[in-house]
Amino acid sequence: MLNWIEQRTGFVSMTKDFLTEDIPGGASYWYVFGSATIFAMILLIVTGIFLTFFYAPSAATAWESTRSIYMHPFQHLVLSIHYWSASAMIALVFLHLLQVVIWGAYKSPREVQWIVGVFLLLVTLVLGLTGYLLPWDMDAYAASQVSINLTLQAPVIGQFIQQFVQDGTTMGTLTINRFFGLHVWLMPAVLVMLVGAHLAIFRWNRPAGPPVDDPRPLKPGRFWPDQMFMDAVASLIVFAIIMALAIWAPPYLDMKADPAKAFIPYPAWYFLDLFGLLQLIPSKFEILGALVVPGIATLILFLLPWIDRSTTRALGSRKPILWMLAVSLAIIWGLSIWSQLGIMQKQAAGPPSVPEAQVLAAASTTASAATASAPAALSLQAKAGQAVFAQDCSSCHGPQGQGTPGVFPPLANNPFVTGNPQAVISVLLDGKQGPTTVNGQGYNGQMPPWKATLSNKQIADVATFIRTALGTNKASAVALSEVAALKK
Ligand code: HEC
Repeated sequence: MLNWIEQRTGFVSMTKDFLTEDIPGGASYWYVFGSATIFAMILLIVTGIFLTFFYAPSAATAWESTRSIYMHPFQHLVLSIHYWSASAMIALVFLHLLQVVIWGAYKSPREVQWIVGVFLLLVTLVLGLTGYLLPWDMDAYAASQVSINLTLQAPVIGQFIQQFVQDGTTMGTLTINRFFGLHVWLMPAVLVMLVGAHLAIFRWNRPAGPPVDDPRPLKPGRFWPDQMFMDAVASLIVFAIIMALAIWAPPYLDMKADPAKAFIPYPAWYFLDLFGLLQLIPSKFEILGALVVPGIATLILFLLPWIDRSTTRALGSRKPILWMLAVSLAIIWGLSIWSQLGIMQKQAAGPPSVPEAQVLAAASTTASAATASAPAALSLQAKAGQAVFAQDCSSCHGPQGQGTPGVFPPLANNPFVTGNPQAVISVLLDGKQGPTTVNGQGYNGQMPPWKATLSNKQIADVATFIRTALGTNKASAVALSEVAALKK
């Protein structure tokens, strides 16, 4: 059987060739980072393909389909694995790179292999960036807006790139489609091709082995089964960690993206350093943080084999490079921690984030927009109130009075709103705060008083609008005299 296949394809001898390779100094757990990265990549591709079966890339469906994935236990697990494999892959790429730098394995004749490796790092980061937008929740939107605006800083082509990825004056379906195309098709294809090239060059150059200047050739060890076994053990450990995180620390889905609402964006952990850099640099010199510093850092990375020209790989005689590495790492860590702390501080000062259970339970804003936009016959008073509502209330209570879980109570289908008119007027005049319950859901926030900002007529109008025309509310109108009577 094997013979039959071998005679017609040559696959058997190809596999043998692939598996028999000498490893200078013998197999070692030091060599597992590259293969573990590939393992994470395969996991990402498999889970990613699965997710495309359920995800629908458009502004009206991206968040909704993600929410539906979150609500389905198995799909949610696959999504969590995808999420954590991405973090794992980026962490492993960094570890792999770190080791190659420490061991000087980029030196001649491995310059091209190194350059392909740096491209791999960049493509992996672009994959992380483009994937971040796809859930289309508040953070996906706000953080991606930051990165899209950064492309404007690029001279000459900046406008073009921004136009291409955003395609329009605001982010929307076309933006999702651009990111989706890059994320599921172009970048993975480039990634797989580069990995192929990286491995082919690796076979040509042979493994670099440990960083020693010993002229005596090291005793070679075997790839199969020794190194293969160690690679498998490492991948298994990576898999176990990813699974544990996916089960116990799944990603969080926020409310659907809403450009009208303010939101404090937070980036993925691997962009915290760049994010911190941007905060640090005054916006007048934004181009420094957006382009110049990252550009120079990348260039240095590419040119490393020519910057470190010594022929020795021994650690002791490469002190300047190792120092440079240590300082860069310290800066990256410092910036990351600083920017994380800054984000946490801002978040603590901002409105609380909505618990995920309520996000998943919340009616989608677009769904209610579709039903509410049907023109209803409004009384003149309700029409006037609608204008007040759009101006002064919709930012918190939602354009259709649907509210925000946990913070802003809905006004549509709210028994309090359609109940005693005096109570509604009092809330409008004097505001309201502290915990409150609507239809069994708890809310806690601050409703500002309006008696100083709105005229009695406006208050009567808006009270009439929310009582008679919002959602399915059908209660009595509120007269001007009722407001005047309550206003002291
Ligand atoms: C800054 C955000 C904000 C704005 C703007 C705002 N509200 Fe409120 N509103 C709230 C919050 C928060 C509550 C709940 C207060 C609490 O937790 O007790 C609330 C409560 C209410 C309630 C009582 C609901 C209940 O079930 O107890 C009514 C009625 C109401 N708002 C109407 C309005 C109207 C009409 C406007 C526009 C004139 C408006 N609100 C503007 C935040 C806001």
